[in-house]
Amino acid sequence: MAILNRAFATVVAAGTLLSGCHSQAPEPTIYTDPSTDITFNTWNLPGNLKVGGLTFGMVLPSTALKEDATEFIGYLNCAAVKGSTTADGWCGIALGGSMIDSLLFLAYPDKDVVRTSLRFTSGYSMPGVYSGNATVKQIGSIVNATGFSLTFHCQDCLHWSQSGANGSASTKRGLLDLGYAQSAKELSNPSCSHGLGLVRHDTQGTWTAMLDEHAANGSYDKWRALANNTAPDLCDAT
Ligand code: HEM
Repeated sequence: MAILNRAFATVVAAGTLLSGCHSQAPEPTIYTDPSTDITFNTWNLPGNLKVGGLTFGMVLPSTALKEDATEFIGYLNCAAVKGSTTADGWCGIALGGSMIDSLLFLAYPDKDVVRTSLRFTSGYSMPGVYSGNATVKQIGSIVNATGFSLTFHCQDCLHWSQSGANGSASTKRGLLDLGYAQSAKELSNPSCSHGLGLVRHDTQGTWTAMLDEHAANGSYDKWRALANNTAPDLCDAT
């Protein structure tokens, strides 16, 4: 069955490449984070005249290609807005491949920290705070003139449920439908991640992410234990 699933995955991935509907090839690029040695499957997503593009990466529990995982360790590198010399704007990942009815992971720089927010929406308007069970803890972050990057653990982020909309990403399929968005515009109220104001992104798209044999890693539990950092919200400061 596993062989059939992989064969199916290859056929679907080939179809994806031929269709031209997606902006990113499904095959991952391997990236090892220099400060932790965490090895990710990564995909580069394009920018445009306004934003510099982003790289999203993922590593999963060791059994994730045989049974569906509900968590992952993520990597996000979000390039600065074009023409800017400081990290700015925001980047987002739709964990179900659509802005609508899928868990949305949002990250942005706030001075020298990176903040995150889990969001959900049933329409193409500003997504509200996700009300289901999912938590993000950071492993490390960098904010500099070229943009920002973040390594993080996302617990219960590969299945979601809100207002009767349930969904999940199946890791054992070996392919994930993902979406990305990037905005050049500043968020309002940035120090308070659940009280943010945001406007529509400048780029968005979907892609099929093929998981290779590095995607599920025997060191996952050791790496997950590095995630102990949250950027505390400063909601009274505004
Ligand atoms: C005020 C906030 C937002 C507005 C008004 C908005 C609006 C929209 C609209 C109108 C589209 C359809 C674009 C098209 O088909 O041409 C879209 C697509 C998309 N958006 Fe958003 N968006 C917002 C925030 C977000 C956030 C926070 C994320 C992710 C964290 C996100 C992820 C996506 C993705 C992945 C797509 C492409 C897939 C799809 O069409 O479902 N959006 N958005």
